[in-house]
Amino acid sequence: MAIALYILNGPNLNLLGTREPEVYGKATLADIEKLCRDAAKKHGFEIVFRQTNVEGELVDWLHEARTKAAGVVLNAGAYTHTSIAIHDALKATTMPVVEVHLSNPFARESFRHHSYISSVAQGVICGFGAQGYVFAIDALADVLANAND
Ligand code: DQA
Repeated sequence: MAIALYILNGPNLNLLGTREPEVYGKATLADIEKLCRDAAKKHGFEIVFRQTNVEGELVDWLHEARTKAAGVVLNAGAYTHTSIAIHDALKATTMPVVEVHLSNPFARESFRHHSYISSVAQGVICGFGAQGYVFAIDALADVLANAND
């Protein structure tokens, strides 16, 4: 069975392409899914790609990922800055998690400067637009390849 990566997207990311394109770029979520599928294929990974506007759904998917995913790419959108529930769900996982943001939250409003995810993620990639998801998949491939060293 191929190794599965979960690529999970939070609120408002369904609007990509039309939502503040000057901040988030012109790529739609479907474009990003395609980028991710191509990047994962290169490493021989399968991906589960999902988006929700509901905080609890992200929590449920992280629970599911505990037994089904070898790694997770998470763009929790605004829940990044508010969700202790997502922080706790990540704490209950053991697989590597890469936090991704299309924009660079540190170059934006101060309420985006704190993340509840960064302290429980393996690493963070932000500010590189849709390409950040590809970097995250490459990073997970590297981490997983070296996991038994
Ligand atoms: C985001 C950054 C968040 O601050 C924001 O709330 C989002 C998108 C990003 O990908 O740049 O919804 O996660």
